[in-house]
Amino acid sequence: MQDRRPASAEPAVPIDPWDAPELTGWRRLPMHAVVRPDAPRVPLDGRWRFQLLPTPRTPLAGRWAETDVPGCWTVQDFDDLHGVRDLPHYTNVTMPFPDLPPSPPAGRNPTGVYEREADVPADWAGRRVVLHVGAAESVLIAHVNGTAVGVGKDSRLASEFDVTHALRPGERNTVRLTVVKWSDATFLEDQDQWWHGGITRSVHLYATDPLHLADVGITAVPGGTLDVAVRVRGGEGVLPAGWSVSGLLCTPDGILRLPADEAFARANVASERVSDFLGEARIRAVVPGVRPWTAETPRLYDLTVRLHRADGSVADESRHRVGFRSVEISGADLLVNGVRVYFRGVNRHDFHPLTGRVVDAEEMRADLCLLKRHGFNAVRTAHYPPDPALLSLADELGLYVVDEADIETHDHAHELADDPRYLGAFTDRVARMVLRDRNHPSVVVWSLGNESDYGANHDAAAGWLRRTDPTRPVQYEGAIKDAWEQAQSASDIICPMYASIEEITAGPHSKPLILCEYSHAMGNSNGSLADYWRAIESTPGLQGGFVWEFRDHGILQRLTGERAGRPAGPDAAADAYADGVTAPGYRWAYGGDFGDTPHDGAFCADGLVLPDRTPKPAMAEHREIAAPLRLELTPDRREARITNRQHFAGLGWLSARWHIGDSGTAPARLPDLAPGESAVVPLPTSLLPHGDSHLTLRVTTAEDLPWAPRGTLVCAPQVVLAEDHRDLLTRAGAVLAADGAGAVELDDAGLLRHPLLTAPPVLTLWRAPTDNDEWGGIADRWRAWGLHALERTLVSVGREGASMVVRSVYATDGAGTVGHEQVLTPLANGGLLVDETAVLPDALTDLPRVGTVFETVAGLDTLEWFGRGPGETYPDRCAGATAGLHRADVDALFTPYLRPQESGGRHDVRRFTLTGAAAAPGIAVHLDLPRQVSVTRHRAADLTAAAHHDELVPRATCVVHLDAAHRGVGTASCGPDTLPAYRVGPGTHRWSWTLQPL
Ligand code: GAL
Ligand code: MG
Repeated sequence: MQDRRPASAEPAVPIDPWDAPELTGWRRLPMHAVVRPDAPRVPLDGRWRFQLLPTPRTPLAGRWAETDVPGCWTVQDFDDLHGVRDLPHYTNVTMPFPDLPPSPPAGRNPTGVYEREADVPADWAGRRVVLHVGAAESVLIAHVNGTAVGVGKDSRLASEFDVTHALRPGERNTVRLTVVKWSDATFLEDQDQWWHGGITRSVHLYATDPLHLADVGITAVPGGTLDVAVRVRGGEGVLPAGWSVSGLLCTPDGILRLPADEAFARANVASERVSDFLGEARIRAVVPGVRPWTAETPRLYDLTVRLHRADGSVADESRHRVGFRSVEISGADLLVNGVRVYFRGVNRHDFHPLTGRVVDAEEMRADLCLLKRHGFNAVRTAHYPPDPALLSLADELGLYVVDEADIETHDHAHELADDPRYLGAFTDRVARMVLRDRNHPSVVVWSLGNESDYGANHDAAAGWLRRTDPTRPVQYEGAIKDAWEQAQSASDIICPMYASIEEITAGPHSKPLILCEYSHAMGNSNGSLADYWRAIESTPGLQGGFVWEFRDHGILQRLTGERAGRPAGPDAAADAYADGVTAPGYRWAYGGDFGDTPHDGAFCADGLVLPDRTPKPAMAEHREIAAPLRLELTPDRREARITNRQHFAGLGWLSARWHIGDSGTAPARLPDLAPGESAVVPLPTSLLPHGDSHLTLRVTTAEDLPWAPRGTLVCAPQVVLAEDHRDLLTRAGAVLAADGAGAVELDDAGLLRHPLLTAPPVLTLWRAPTDNDEWGGIADRWRAWGLHALERTLVSVGREGASMVVRSVYATDGAGTVGHEQVLTPLANGGLLVDETAVLPDALTDLPRVGTVFETVAGLDTLEWFGRGPGETYPDRCAGATAGLHRADVDALFTPYLRPQESGGRHDVRRFTLTGAAAAPGIAVHLDLPRQVSVTRHRAADLTAAAHHDELVPRATCVVHLDAAHRGVGTASCGPDTLPAYRVGPGTHRWSWTLQPL
């Protein structure tokens, strides 16, 4: 058929911005670091008209719904006019659609159209007006009064458009923002997290003088040298005569006025009239008596940079908080202010269980304060630049930041690293991050992105970066993946992920080694953190790492009512969850729970805190490992030595008390120590004859700090004054009853009948697999051996003196037979001594546990134990707990990891009591050696069968595990398995315990 359309002299180029990888933005203003808190502004956050279309080409309906900005439409509730409900979708590596780069799906591509009015003051006439959209994913198309004003990509950085020409000051203006979810750029944003859609950061209009500050670049180093480069733009291309730039710096001694160089060093000249770039001025000064910025001493100086008109009036102004600090690499050491520091870091995403990716400044502050309180001093902004407020908070609170560009091409990594169509996008994303964030003292390292292989596009970005900001190192894991020691690469740091202790200590290293990810915090995890730090602190070239990751990405999901199955959303009532536990009718959703496919299940729940920011037990572990001071006994054990382990600060911000036993306490005086120094202090002699030999120094904040109130626990190092080597049961005075006295009652199967037990003590080799056990493939072996369903056969019941000897065997699936002997002996106090032996065949090479399980009567709800506590501990994660007497509600012992699994353990337990309300009797248990014990309301089988907590019904009884041996938790869901020293092998295991009614 003949094309009858008239030929056009200028045929339109039909660009779909969502299907054009070469296009990173259109009419978007260059990124800059000018901060104008006082500029006239029209905030545009709040209610917008809204339609969610199935594709960017779908015509709008005549009617509008409404929704809030910022917000993710994936968690918001709105009138779904086009029937496109688009819920959160979780994948790790796999792209959420099958299409290949660079094209997004041609069919369904959820597109949000947002529209609202903006009242712009009449006195904005003659000014330059900028539309600022904090973040939108993944393509933003902006219109003002029907005029297209620009296009932006890169979902984690702001887009700004000059809208002066389209805007009518003094009138109502219509702003429309079209957000297309899938685009060529989605292939660069394939991070391991939920997929959302929407406008995720704040939107506003602001006005400046037409001649304005275009950028401010600050370099400030210890010693006081300050160098500020100021760029001016606007107007006709030549700066009018008499205009100038100045700075005002607030110091404790007063305000310093800092003039810029007289002439604008690089300025347009009238004859050229090249562009709206008018010139660059420089403020250079040496500020006397400057106190440097470090994460331990985050000292900031307020700097205001001004652009003056010829009459001296202020045309534009930018505000900064300057930290004087330096970063350099010298050999295999990364130095901050000349000092080799440790990076006690964490990877942090922008995440909230109600709002998805929308996180306000108070939420960010809460994140960072919690991290500081647990000894973290560094954050990697995995895997994209954060809201700028996060960096201001890191400046203020004191955290080193690895700022990461929004580039992760995981599913298509190899292709895209060298794909020239994406060259612009790679460099654009790195450059825009650097141009926005370079004035933050907290940012000490740039990262080129994550899991995107390594190619020419990275080198291009690194080249741009190194020239633009020579003051900071660059890291990129992909660039060291295959060869850690390669001299020429885009990474100045050896920044592997999940390398084992063996690998990182196999130096020497040519560059500093700082793990960009390690100690995967999925479920009950973070085993061997203390082993990592022993290695780091004793091996040259190792400087720490960033735990993966801060928070479990569990989205609160409604289970009942009209919106059952949907995200509870931003308006969910505050009582929907507390302390990590969801209220009835809700649960923490993970991959697949919204019907999302393909998905990666609970792999998004891998944080150190639960979705509501309740710390998991690994946080206490980290706090102790990061303790600012060390406590040891002197070799003669008569005194203690205290060492300041910090890099810059003294101990003046800390106060301390000695504690011994359950009540002995005395004030401690911390010596005045410079970093690295140590001193000997006397022991609190008044406390020493106290029975218990565990002496603890409880160290707290001495005064209110920006991140912790006075009295917040900082660390609690402990020393053991004297070891008592007598058998614990002997010490507990377990005296056997006279021969024939007291009777042990057994049922036909040879199992103990006891008035206080509802399930008799039996051998168990099973634990509800942790995420590490599952994802590491370890639980598959256990299942194949049938450890979850061992079948017991009674062999014999005999009497030896007062004891009953019960022999049984447990059959495995193809791994042989486990022999078990239980010798039950009555005690003089009415209790019972149980001596157990298990003989495991060699084929059972690696077991979750070997131990006893029983259940008590209902009504026992308080556990008091002598062992590690108060938090949950396992053999390879117990450095954060002190040995001593602890007490807790049974319900509170259990950690509600998102996917139910082994939980609630306490390590090194010597004895415990379980008691209830006065009327109910209780039990006391003593163990022969410090053992792993757990008391919960859940059988291992209940936990194994459940996928979410709402499926679990807590039992009224207590399920008690006493383990002869328990496998460490390790980190095998992503990274090394439990270290061999913390594994449980075959052979003969013996353990003894006493049970005594109270
Ligand atoms: C890393 C990746 C992270 C996350 C983690 C596993 O490979 O960089 O984004 O996927 O593993 O949770
Ligand atoms: Mg990935």
